[in-house]
Amino acid sequence: MTTSRMMRDKLYKDVPGTTLFDAEQSRMGYHLNQFCMSLMKPENRERFKADQRAYLDEWPMTEEQKQAVLDFDLNRCIELGGNIYFLSKIGATFGKSFQYMAGSMTGLSEAAYRDMMVQGGRSPEGNRIKDNPDADPDRHAPEGRARITASIYSSHVPAVGAAMDLGRTEEDYWKPVFAGYERTREWIRDHTPDVVFLVYNDHATAFDMTLIPTFAIGTGAAYPIADEGYGPRPVPGIEGHPQLAAHIAQSVIQDDFDLTLVNEMVIDHGLSVPLSLMFGQVERWPCKVIPFAVNVVQYPVPSGRRCYELGQAIGRAIRSFPEDITVQVWGTGGMSHQLQGRRAGLINPEWDNAFLDLLVHDPAHLAESDHLEYIEEAGSEGIELVMWLIARGAMADQAIDARPDVPAPSVVHRHYHVPASNTAVGHLVLDDRAALTEGEA
Ligand code: DHB
Ligand code: FE
Repeated sequence: MTTSRMMRDKLYKDVPGTTLFDAEQSRMGYHLNQFCMSLMKPENRERFKADQRAYLDEWPMTEEQKQAVLDFDLNRCIELGGNIYFLSKIGATFGKSFQYMAGSMTGLSEAAYRDMMVQGGRSPEGNRIKDNPDADPDRHAPEGRARITASIYSSHVPAVGAAMDLGRTEEDYWKPVFAGYERTREWIRDHTPDVVFLVYNDHATAFDMTLIPTFAIGTGAAYPIADEGYGPRPVPGIEGHPQLAAHIAQSVIQDDFDLTLVNEMVIDHGLSVPLSLMFGQVERWPCKVIPFAVNVVQYPVPSGRRCYELGQAIGRAIRSFPEDITVQVWGTGGMSHQLQGRRAGLINPEWDNAFLDLLVHDPAHLAESDHLEYIEEAGSEGIELVMWLIARGAMADQAIDARPDVPAPSVVHRHYHVPASNTAVGHLVLDDRAALTEGEA
């Protein structure tokens, strides 16, 4: 077993006397940690010190968590999902040092703990996994049962969402755009997955100038629709899949891709317009959605190659999730468009169609195209197309360890139309069920 494979097994849970703060702990301790964070403000520290119980009651924490805080029982706080960097704000509020706090968790008096540290500190001897009588000898990587059944690609032009929201889809301008999605709407009625892993780009909506993550995965339970300045679209927010998202983060980060974990954010047209196009106007989306945002706002942006390889890692991660669920991976944005400057309105149908051909038949080759090619040939915002490579990389025939007999996905539908607003609209549906029954059986 390789080291990286072992790492995915969460062996860290067996280190004696140690609780690693992972997604599971984070979910449990979310509000406990956010309460701790509130103590970064002097006025909140004063209110907390004046009436601890009343201040804690303002937070949706469990009674056990509140009691552990009142008892300043840090071991218990950690068991209940607290993280020491957050919990230290409680100690700081009462003027306690990190050494005091660490000592309080060891069963030693403050003086005895200090002496122990002066003597050279605690030895790892006797404190390794092999010394833990409670270590789980059967802890191993989960057996995968989740299946990636299809991938879908689409432009996400905001005006397309507006046309649907305002009932204008029958107008001459819009008819040919929406006609290209009718086949998919029919197909997806019989092929609705349990989860859509939706790769899109945030358009200066959830992320502003304070923070620009290259790759951000939504590990939260729900995400509301953003108000992008026109008022929020009248469509439902999405329900996430925190367990699958955390599993993907665990696996992909162990594969050396750096992801930003996002528990709370709003979602913009990059995500909501494709959902509307595939599922129509609904009260509730028919499946869960894991948002995955890629930075294409500020350069440097990730290369097509990086996105394609990340897609391979995401595919492997999804296929190793130990629940019997179906997943589709969607890539949105593009095709050729330029929204800025004197070159605005650039459209390149030859390049777009060659991109669609290569995406289906030779995505590894397509992944070699560099940024300059996207900008020159598909316009400055055509760079959104790198996200399509993430979705394509996740399919079975692109897996790093794919057997040669794994069939390529079949093209259910392909559509191309110019224009929608400033953009060439492209759309592709690739069905991967043959790979599941033949190649992976
Ligand atoms: C348009 C297209 C986009 O992809 C986008 O994010 C914003 C606007 C447009 O064509 O108007
Ligand atoms: Fe866009």
